[in-house]
Amino acid sequence: MDIEIGDRIRYKRKDLELTQKQLGRVIGCHSSYISYLEVGHLEGTLVRPEVSDKLRRLFELWLAGETFEPADIIERPRKAAPESIPEPAPAPAPIDLNAKHKHHTFGTLRYYVEQRQHVYLWGLPGSGKSTAAEQVAEELGLPYGYVSLNPQTSEFRLLGYKDAMGVYQETVFRHCYEHGGVFCVDELDNANPALLTTLNGMLESNLGAFPDCIVHRHHDFVFVATGNTNGRGATKSFPDRRKMDCAMMDRLAFIEWSYDEILETAIACKIAGSVKVGTEVTEWVQAVREWAAEHAPLLAVTPRASFRLCAALHSPQTNDELLDTVLFHGIDKDIVRACLSHNRFNLRKYMR
Ligand SMILES: Nc1ncnc2c1ncn2[C@@H]1O[C@H](COP(=O)(O)OP(=O)(O)O)[C@@H](O)[C@H]1O
Ligand SMILES: [Mg+2]
Repeated sequence: MDIEIGDRIRYKRKDLELTQKQLGRVIGCHSSYISYLEVGHLEGTLVRPEVSDKLRRLFELWLAGETFEPADIIERPRKAAPESIPEPAPAPAPIDLNAKHKHHTFGTLRYYVEQRQHVYLWGLPGSGKSTAAEQVAEELGLPYGYVSLNPQTSEFRLLGYKDAMGVYQETVFRHCYEHGGVFCVDELDNANPALLTTLNGMLESNLGAFPDCIVHRHHDFVFVATGNTNGRGATKSFPDRRKMDCAMMDRLAFIEWSYDEILETAIACKIAGSVKVGTEVTEWVQAVREWAAEHAPLLAVTPRASFRLCAALHSPQTNDELLDTVLFHGIDKDIVRACLSHNRFNLRKYMR
């Protein structure tokens, strides 16, 4: 039932080219609610039942194209407080600094990997794609291998080679292909086309041609690729990414990997060693992300900004220097000024 409404919301939102944030403004809720709905979970510990009922009704109206008053529940799910406690200033849900956290789409990835279906995780940098590939291998007790591709990466990185003595030098890819395991190819949309053709052949057939012999593909071999684009070629932010050919696309289950802001907060808190500091820093980074989406689209404000700020709060730099190091990366000073005037926050109070 929820999966069904989640799918309908996602299709209509994409059709209208709305981000989750923009749709959140239309409905009157935080974008995290939409993330949850789109993956089929709204109930649970983080969302109060009356909020989930109200949201579901509003989304039904929106899907039916009817007019309605936006809700007044912009708050984030994790801030939901128990009903009985009046909430002048709701306390953040407790974050366990020692817990291992998973992305909200992790269950979908796990499902396909369990089916031994090859997948392509695509989404913005820093959304946790590569980490999820490693986590799924660990959770399913499968060996794990990894390679990051760029246009110069040759097929020997995957297939191995014979050295000057004629001895075959094996790679982790070969090991996973022959004996089973999850192999993550990072930045698949940045690979050279010849390498993609080789990979495609190895996924298509049950046999792989390696420099020393032909190898049978193990039934527990699962290929998990990641990329920043949807495989349809370059975008403004990723001008050099290549199109994936139809044959390759056909072999992969595409899973969109969006930012999980609750996961981002939890990781930042862990890095900062403090729920208060991690939460405040992340909220500021997320506000800057929202501002940048509208005013400076080429400024990438990824979750890594939250993590790096939390890791560098004791750096000897000034506030401005630190922000430039971890977030602005030398962009035009006018953009920095405009951004900071809309999103005031002084990290100095956390710095030494
Ligand atoms: N579930 C998680 N638990 C802990 N850290 C994570 C998790 N997901 C992502 N990270 C951290 O976030 C950063 C970006 O994740 P990564 O997997 O490299 O993203 P992507 O591959 O989408 O660019 C890394 O520093 C990684 O350690
Ligand atoms: Mg990655």
